[in-house]
Amino acid sequence: METVFSGIQPSGGFHIGNWLGAVQNWVKLQDDYRCIFCIVDLHALTQHYEPAEMSERVITLTSELLACGIDPARSILFVQSHVPEHTELAWILATVTPHGDLSRMTQFKDKSERAPDNINAGLLTYPVLMAADILLYKATRVPVGDDQVQHLELAREITRKFNARFGETFPEPQPLFTKATRILGLDGKTKMSKSVGNSLLIADPPEVIRKKIGNAFTDPTRVRKVDPGHPESCYVCGLQGYFASPEETARLHEGCRSATAGCVDSKRALAENMINALAPLREKAAEWKAHPDKIRQVLGDGAQTARVIAADTMARVRERLGLLAP
Ligand code: TRP
Repeated sequence: METVFSGIQPSGGFHIGNWLGAVQNWVKLQDDYRCIFCIVDLHALTQHYEPAEMSERVITLTSELLACGIDPARSILFVQSHVPEHTELAWILATVTPHGDLSRMTQFKDKSERAPDNINAGLLTYPVLMAADILLYKATRVPVGDDQVQHLELAREITRKFNARFGETFPEPQPLFTKATRILGLDGKTKMSKSVGNSLLIADPPEVIRKKIGNAFTDPTRVRKVDPGHPESCYVCGLQGYFASPEETARLHEGCRSATAGCVDSKRALAENMINALAPLREKAAEWKAHPDKIRQVLGDGAQTARVIAADTMARVRERLGLLAP
C-alpha cells in the first residue's frame, strides 16, 4: 500500500470547506492507502493565536475528524508537536532549500500582506516544515487542494535536492488530485477560512446555519424575485449539490432559472438540508468531546506509531548527513 500523508491546522473552526474539500476525501482514501493524518499545531504557530486556546482547539478538531470518519484503527492520527522529529528534519531540509524559492511562495506573500505586523521566519519556512512532515514518513501521495500545490511542488524540489546531495533517501511525493472541491466562503469571494470570517462551521447550531445561509452571497444579477437567476454563478445554488439529492438540486436550480422560486426559498432549502447533513457529525463530535480521555488515547497511540517511523527515518538521515553518532 502506498502511504498518504496530509495535515490540517488547528486554527479553531472546522468548517464545511475543510470537510467537503479535504476530510471527506481523506475518509475514502483510508480504503486504498496507508493513511497518516496530522494535526499540524506547529504550523499554526506562524499566525496570531491564543496560547490558552491551543490545546482545546486540538482536542476539538480531533473530535471532529473522528466524527467525520477518520478511523484510528486503520489510519495514524496524531499531533505534529508530539513527534519532535518533524522540527529536526525541517531544520535539516532548510539547509538544502533555496531562500529565493521560499520568498516567492504565493501563500507567504499573501499571509505577509494580511498580517504585516507578524511576518515571522516561521511563515517563510512553513513549506520546509510541511516537506519534513511528508518525508519523515516517506509518503508518496499527498492529497492537496489547489492552494497547496505550490507547497507540494517545493517539497518535491527539496526532496530532489536532498537526494542529489546525500544519496537517494526519500521518494518524491506526488500530489493526489481529487475532483477538486474548493469551497468558497459565504461571501462567494475568497476561499472559506476562519480568519477571513466567511465560514460555516461543522459545529454551528441550526439557528446559526439559518442566519449565515440567509446572508450568503447569491447571483448578483438577480435583483428582484421575478428576475430569472443563474444557478451556475450563484454561490447558494452551487452549494445545494453537496447537501441535496440530485433531483432536489435540479428542481431548486430550475426554480431559480425560471424565477418560480426566489433566493430566499433557495437559501431556506439549503439551510435545512445542511442542518440535517451536519447534525450527525455534530452529535458524534459531541460524544467524543464528552470523553477527552479517549481522544487523548487516540492521539497518544497515533503519536507512538508515528514516532517509531520518524525515529527510523531520522537515524538514516543523520547517517546520510555524516553526523557523529552520539
Ligand atoms: N499547509 C497545509 C494546509 O494549510 C497543512 C499541512 C501541513 C499539510 N503539513 C502538510 C498538508 C503536509 C499536506 C501535507 O492546508
